[in-house]
Amino acid sequence: MEPVLATGAFCGRLEEGMNRKGILLAGGTGTRLWPLTRAVSKQLLPLYDKPMVYYPLSVLMLAGMREILLISTPQDLPLFKLLLGDGQSLGLKLSYAEQAKPEGLAQAYQIGAKFVGTDPSCLILGDNFFYGAELGKLLASAQAREKGATIFAYQVADPSSYGVLTFDKRNRITSIEEKPAKPKSHWANCGLYFYDGRAVEFARGLKPSARGELEITDLSRCYMKDQSLHGERFGRGSAWLDTGTADGLLQAAQFVQTVQTRTGMLLGSPEEVAFRQGWIGAKELGELAEAIGKNAYAETLRQMAAEGKR
Ligand code: G1P
Repeated sequence: MEPVLATGAFCGRLEEGMNRKGILLAGGTGTRLWPLTRAVSKQLLPLYDKPMVYYPLSVLMLAGMREILLISTPQDLPLFKLLLGDGQSLGLKLSYAEQAKPEGLAQAYQIGAKFVGTDPSCLILGDNFFYGAELGKLLASAQAREKGATIFAYQVADPSSYGVLTFDKRNRITSIEEKPAKPKSHWANCGLYFYDGRAVEFARGLKPSARGELEITDLSRCYMKDQSLHGERFGRGSAWLDTGTADGLLQAAQFVQTVQTRTGMLLGSPEEVAFRQGWIGAKELGELAEAIGKNAYAETLRQMAAEGKR
């Protein structure tokens, strides 16, 4: 079977100087969602009208990333390839790598060592959903920061199942703790990390944690020690939703449905982002809509192609 979205031509070349590499980590066993994820990857489950992975992919694209490595398990990788192909139809250069065992998020930088090299990068977790007016601005400033790292925080009622950050009065990060029993703040560390060209080198030096994983919080901690870790806090107008439980998944889907139905606009559409970024034209967008067929999602893309950029 052909990749569903592999129509349309690659438009334009990757901009020079835009060398930040994107990594989309979509591995894991998704045990918290079993039996839903027993046979299929969590990041391929529907979030309303699109596969979950579309949302973080759109975030990377919104931040300007066009060279992206998708990492997943050996059994799920073929399905991601079927869905996204080589990315050409979206003006992207997509490549794929296997994470044989779930040995931690920071392992992405060992698996992707060759892909990233000494370039700056952005890692996003395939189950993270972001929404909000300030997102574009925060992504742009993190993208523009050449030295050091930028990580993001969102206030949640119960942060104990996340990395937890504390800040000082001058807004600097003072601690990061992975899934603490007694969280020191309500600021959860979101699954979105911008690192400079030293990430691979730092990742090589990491040791597995007590639970046997290479922790992403330890990688961020390398930058904290180096005093080059920047923290951005999302405000009240933004949403960072949990998709890792049956309730969270349903709530996130309803959130997307509510906003999309009310506004007639799409959330987390890679086709739309490619078009608005100017990586594909109206003709290619129309072709992508045709390949999807006759449904509300394709119809919105078709209208967008007809209207041009707003
Ligand atoms: C991971 C990170 C954690 C972060 C979270 C965000 O946890 O280890 O620091 O807050 O992603 O989604 P996981 O969801 O893999 O348990």
